[in-house]
Amino acid sequence: MLLHLPQFLSPEEVSHAQSLLATAPWTDGRKGTGELARQVKNNEQLDHDCEAARTIRAMVLRALDRNPTFFSAALPKKVFPPRLNRYGGDSNYYGDHIDGAVRYIPGSGERLRTDVSCTIFLTDPQDYDGGELCIADTFGEQSVKLPAGHAVLYPGTSLHQVKPVTRGYRLACFFWIESLVRSDEQRRMLYELDMNLLALRQQHGDDAHTTALTGVYHNMLRMWADT
Ligand code: NI
Repeated sequence: MLLHLPQFLSPEEVSHAQSLLATAPWTDGRKGTGELARQVKNNEQLDHDCEAARTIRAMVLRALDRNPTFFSAALPKKVFPPRLNRYGGDSNYYGDHIDGAVRYIPGSGERLRTDVSCTIFLTDPQDYDGGELCIADTFGEQSVKLPAGHAVLYPGTSLHQVKPVTRGYRLACFFWIESLVRSDEQRRMLYELDMNLLALRQQHGDDAHTTALTGVYHNMLRMWADT
C-alpha cells in the first residue's frame, strides 16, 4: 500500500528543519552502504549524531505520535531513527534499488525488519526540478513528489529510486518501520477496516454493528500481530 500523509509536519516545523539543514554538515551518502547500493547511490546524508539530525529526529518522532493515520497504516512495532538526505549538485540521484531487509538501529544493538518505508519531503516542489521518488510494486509505478511537510508510506519490499535533481536541492527525511503485521496485504485490510469504521462512527455514532466490527478488527489484529 502506498499512502500519502498530508501535513505530516507543520509549516513551522518544516521551516525550522530547513534552517537547520542549510548549515548542516552533509557527507557522502555512499559512506557505510553495501556494495550493491554503492553502484546506484549518489546523494548526501547527515551524520546520525550531529545537532541538526538530533533535533529533526526528535521533531519527526513527535509528529509520528500525533498522527493516528500513520499508526493505523503502519502498525509500528519499531521505528528506525529518522535520517536526513539531500540530492542536488553532483550528488543528485539514487537509482533503482530495494532497501536492505534488516537494519541495525544505531547505538542500540537492536535490529529492525524494514516492512514499511517512509519519506517526508522537506523542500517544496517548486524549489527543485526532478527528484521524484518512483516506487514500483504490485500497484504499478508511482511517481511521488509532495509539498514540504507531507509524507509517503510505501512497502519496504518495493523497488524504488530517486530521479536526478537537475535544479536546486531536495531535502528529505526517511526511515523504516518494523510493523506488528509483516504482510502488506494484511496491513492494508486492517487499515481499510479501521478507516471505514471510523467514518461509520462519525456518521452514525456507535451501535451494536460498529461495536461488533471493531471486535472483528481487533481479532484480526490479534491473529496477525507479532508483538
Ligand atoms: Ni531506498
